[in-house]
Amino acid sequence: MSGISGYAFDNTSEHAGGRFDALESCYDPVSFARLADLGVGPGMRCLELGGGGGSVAVWLADRVGPTGSVLVTDIEPRWMDGLPGRANLRVIRHDIGAEELPEGGFDLIHARLVLLHVSERNAALDRLVRALRPGGLLVLDEFDCGWIPVLASPSPGSAELFEKTHEAVMGIITAAGADMRWGAHAYAALRRAGLTDVASATYAESWRGGSPGARLHQINIRQLGGRLVEEGLTEEQLEQCLRLLDDPGFAVNSYPLITTWGVRP
Ligand SMILES: C[S@@+](CC[C@H](N)C(=O)[O-])C[C@H]1O[C@@H](n2cnc3c(N)ncnc32)[C@H](O)[C@@H]1O
Repeated sequence: MSGISGYAFDNTSEHAGGRFDALESCYDPVSFARLADLGVGPGMRCLELGGGGGSVAVWLADRVGPTGSVLVTDIEPRWMDGLPGRANLRVIRHDIGAEELPEGGFDLIHARLVLLHVSERNAALDRLVRALRPGGLLVLDEFDCGWIPVLASPSPGSAELFEKTHEAVMGIITAAGADMRWGAHAYAALRRAGLTDVASATYAESWRGGSPGARLHQINIRQLGGRLVEEGLTEEQLEQCLRLLDDPGFAVNSYPLITTWGVRP
């Protein structure tokens, strides 16, 4: 498994499409409601950072309408090749960890689950702030992976198996430069970056075996499989954990999605 610019889940992998589908099922309704609540609407010039499968970018393009525009970036934008055409939507390849953005123009910048993977996240954040117009809004949807209690366990030992596997997944992602508590660190980071009116709100729910959220765990385990074995898990344990995540008797708290926003003075 290779990482690009520190990103542990190589988007050239066959697993990336399934990951984006799962994320979109779990979190699009949350992101869309929050963005609507924060006043995203017609005429706004938007940047969607690390757009992944592109669902948020398309929603934004429809929301801002023909007088607005959306630029969506990704370090590996191939999963947006088949997006429904929108005249006000443009996709570019861009690495926020290393490359500058045009300065001073955007009314809204939104990123979901991107900066947690970018090891140079504070420099990236400063870049995003410079790319906002004065009065422009930055909105980050980020996980805090530190609190995902198992809620229901169908057999003895299954909670411990899930927890052990998940801890190993987190260890590999963290070693690639991710901050798996970034959701909880973002508020202070936005203040440090000079934004005003910083605020946050958190969303979490239960994920049953077989749900899109449980599939997200399965995809991560499958993609990191060889690395997890190197970390000491056996093939049999990984298979058991994958089966557990299909079992409706199992339930785990979702990753809390902490949305943090602020305004460029
Ligand atoms: C976990 S996925 C989230 C995708 C999408 N934002 C969503 O929530 O459905 C992270 C995305 O960030 C992109 N990414 C990772 N590092 C990046 C970087 N340095 N610059 C731009 N995009 C990056 C990945 O390619 C991937 O599409």
